[in-house]
Amino acid sequence: MKLVHTVAELRSLLAPGLAAFVPTMGNLHAGHLALVAQARAVAPQAPVVLSLFVNRLQFLPHEDFDRYPRTLESDCAQLQAQGACDIVFAPDEAELYPEPQGYRLVPPPELADILEGQFRPGFFTGVCTVVHKLFNLVQPAHAVFGKKDYQQLMVLRRMVAQMGLPICVHGGETLRSSEGLALSSRNQYLSAEQKMQALQLSAALRALIAAWQGGARDRERLEGEAMDHLAARGWQPDYLTLRRRHDLGPARDGEALVALGAARLGSTRLIDNLEF
Ligand code: PAF
Repeated sequence: MKLVHTVAELRSLLAPGLAAFVPTMGNLHAGHLALVAQARAVAPQAPVVLSLFVNRLQFLPHEDFDRYPRTLESDCAQLQAQGACDIVFAPDEAELYPEPQGYRLVPPPELADILEGQFRPGFFTGVCTVVHKLFNLVQPAHAVFGKKDYQQLMVLRRMVAQMGLPICVHGGETLRSSEGLALSSRNQYLSAEQKMQALQLSAALRALIAAWQGGARDRERLEGEAMDHLAARGWQPDYLTLRRRHDLGPARDGEALVALGAARLGSTRLIDNLEF
């Protein structure tokens, strides 16, 4: 496995249109390693490239950009031990943004200003801008993103389709702890007690799904009750909601659906989702 920090080094190692690519912000856990294994599996002959870059453009001023864990050494050790990654691309900010990134890729509001985008304005513009740039640098044939960031996966799929990028986008299933907590780099901000409490988010999503599957159709009331349930247990919920999978429009009968939630526990904002 090669660790490279510059675009020139990256380009010298890669033929265009070949790689299977896993973009990350680092601080890798088993969920990321599963995405790397998936990249290897979708293109067994292709070089697997993983990028490590904490992208300032997708953080709001009050968010955790400065304290976001940067763990290059242990990230590389995990990848080396797994043995499925060929190239780690870990540029610094000056390499990826040698001049202020004035050009941005702005996704359409109906996809990007709802849910996460409503509570993190500009988040998806930051994500699309960096991912589009990384795609230009790596020129992959395949890219793998986790379903844990469900809306991000949908927004990026639409970006690839609308911009005509010759990249096949794959979604990786969410990995969970044995107790059921979705793996996330932000879980390490939680105390042991909060980690147990954090299970209430997926439990609230399961309860929403059960109510819908039990025949309840007053979606707004169900969602409001789910938010109240979490708020009563010390959370600050942003949304708990039932949506169509393909465009995250409101849930309707007969369509493939997903329950999504985002809520703050103490100072840590957690997201989760369950397809049904
Ligand atoms: O999901 C992430 O880790 C980031 O949003 C991504 C896709 C690597 C872009 O910075």
